[in-house]
Amino acid sequence: MLELEGLVRHFDGVRAVDGVSFSVERGKVLGFIGPNGAGKTTTMRILATLDTPQSGDARIGGYSVVDDPEKVRRITGFMPDYAGVYVNTTVTEYLDFFARAHDLRGEARRKAVSNIIEFMGIGDLRDRNVESLSKGLKQRVALGRALIHDPQMLILDEPAANLDPRARIEFRTLIRELAADGKTVLLSSHILTELSEICDSVTVIEKGHILATGTVQDILEGIRSRRILSVRLAGQNDGAERFLLEQPGVLNVHEAGGHLQFEFGGGDDDQVDLIRRLLAAGFPVLEFSAHSAGLEDLFIEITEGQVQ
Ligand SMILES: Nc1ncnc2c1ncn2[C@@H]1O[C@H](COP(=O)(O)OP(=O)(O)OP(=O)(O)O)[C@@H](O)[C@H]1O
Ligand SMILES: [Mg+2]
Repeated sequence: MLELEGLVRHFDGVRAVDGVSFSVERGKVLGFIGPNGAGKTTTMRILATLDTPQSGDARIGGYSVVDDPEKVRRITGFMPDYAGVYVNTTVTEYLDFFARAHDLRGEARRKAVSNIIEFMGIGDLRDRNVESLSKGLKQRVALGRALIHDPQMLILDEPAANLDPRARIEFRTLIRELAADGKTVLLSSHILTELSEICDSVTVIEKGHILATGTVQDILEGIRSRRILSVRLAGQNDGAERFLLEQPGVLNVHEAGGHLQFEFGGGDDDQVDLIRRLLAAGFPVLEFSAHSAGLEDLFIEITEGQVQ
């Protein structure tokens, strides 16, 4: 449904997007992860035909964003990271305006607006002034706006920002419903743990380059094969660091907040052995824990975290 091929967009010396390629199948939800300045918004604006690449191309439903932007717009809904709203406009008027912009007329337009109001659960807001809504509710209306012409592809730039925990759960349910309905979704976020629950797969971008792509499961398994362990001793750590470094599979021992943290290349049995050896050597082990691996770790591990 979505295919990017060597997309490039530079701004006066900044390689915002520097040869980005990936694809998303119909009905799938792809998370687009990256630190500030990674190139997420620039990529998404090109996909939404608001900007053009210097080289490369992207196809949505087979249409090129460069050669067929009109056709792309008909099947694509875009929600920018900052959704502008208009003064003195009610929710109904706001959605009606965008329905008109998409050439919906008469009964079809009225139906589109009422369907979206119902689907988004914003019936109570119908006559409220958009400007007066809270950030979370504005976001909901903005998502409704992106959906008004029943697009097959949704491009959402940080849609879960500004949402409280409950609204996030509702948002997740909504996205899963849209995907079940056959819509394809690309969404960016910094809230990595959120992505793991919403997305089928994730693509990690940094400094305009794709660093990793895969299902959330695959990427997590990749991380889990390298465990991060942590030991806290009662009293002094004298000699513990050296002892750990001498053990098989132990790497990069360092102290962090009173704990000795290290990478461990072994499996469960090796970990049990390691704990036995620590105790047998007389170290007063107060705590021993395996650092929970998640997308947050991947993000730190896989990106150098450099802001450009
Ligand atoms: N119009 C522009 N003119 C000049 N530089 C730009 C322009 N738009 C983006 N950039 C630069 O391109 C890089 C990528 O920006 P982009 O907004 O795509 O990142 P992002 O991944 O969306 O970051 P964030 O998480 O902060 O939203 C940044 O260095 C940014 O300063
Ligand atoms: Mg951005």
